[in-house]
Amino acid sequence: MNDGFVCAFETSCDDTSVCILDSSGKVLFLESQDQNEFHKDFGGIVPEIASRNHSANLYPILDRAIKKTALNLDQIDTFIATTRPGLMGSLMVGATAAKTLAWSLKKKWVAVNHIKGHLFAPWVDRNLFESVTDFPHVSLVVSGGHTHIFYLESILSTPILIGQTKDDAAGEALDKLGKLLGLGFPGGAAIDVLSKSGNDLAFDFPKSLWNEGLMMSFSGLKSSVRRLVESMADDELAVKKADICASFQKRVVDILLWKLKKACLLYKPQSFSVSGGVSANSLLREKAENLSKELELSVFIPSMKYCTDNAAMIGLAGLREIKMGHSFGWNEKASPISFDQDFIKKLVLND
Ligand code: KG4
Ligand code: ZN
Repeated sequence: MNDGFVCAFETSCDDTSVCILDSSGKVLFLESQDQNEFHKDFGGIVPEIASRNHSANLYPILDRAIKKTALNLDQIDTFIATTRPGLMGSLMVGATAAKTLAWSLKKKWVAVNHIKGHLFAPWVDRNLFESVTDFPHVSLVVSGGHTHIFYLESILSTPILIGQTKDDAAGEALDKLGKLLGLGFPGGAAIDVLSKSGNDLAFDFPKSLWNEGLMMSFSGLKSSVRRLVESMADDELAVKKADICASFQKRVVDILLWKLKKACLLYKPQSFSVSGGVSANSLLREKAENLSKELELSVFIPSMKYCTDNAAMIGLAGLREIKMGHSFGWNEKASPISFDQDFIKKLVLND
């Protein structure tokens, strides 16, 4: 790897984020702009609005990045962008910007899988490339779009997908409850706050796929909380909101941590991590720390700014691609789904 800098773009969903890192992965600049105010009235992300905002927001942030770091564009050796999975129009804004800059400045460009970005987010600010003793490693990536468990033999090995949700992502289930309770979108953070004043044993939600290896399911939980909310009169619901949030959040976290524990017992790693937007959850963070003590394994959880979508994790994952010797052509495409070669699939289906 050379001694220059890299510039990374993350635009896979509704956050526009730009990061400049040095070749060791040190973050020199990071700015992310969300679009919550544009989507909140729709109760979800509107793809067309998301791409329009990315194309308006990306270059002003890049402009600030160049001014604040006092770099000139020529000192950037590689432009990195998330190219999959995600919303097609959104991905194309970041990918085309990275490609165009690289092509016109005669530099390299790197395409990054968004889930790999989340996977390596715990090492932002911790020098991934000097963290050999953290491996082998088990990683839980849990966000609004993904709920995956990976095993990594070493820093540069292809992640092995050992567990995943069969249907909805954990964050999607939390966001659905947020919507049902009128907490806005995405509702995960509001549920986290409201849960603190609720009784987490007030309601019993299903322990879906508890005994089915490292597989997970959140659609049953989603339906059961919808039925519960719909069965309540408005005044009862107002009184029980916090109890519903606390009980639902507890069950989601119970399932995630139980699967993570099973994965650690099965794969005997040196350390484990929890990352992705839902890793911002205070209960999940606290319980992951407890699991670390119980299993006597180090745990890595990203600092809050690297939990939800951000370009720092994409930059780090891109630097890793460079270290692996991967190169990317001008015809590399964005894709709404991961490519087969991104992960080795060895799902643990049964206990
Ligand atoms: O990683 P992310 O920004 O986007 C995806 O790749 O999906 O994750 C967004 C998800 C949303 O579902 C949001 O509700 C959830 O992260 N989230 C939280 C918290 N903060 C964000 N979920 C639970 N507790 C939080 N504090
Ligand atoms: Zn994400």
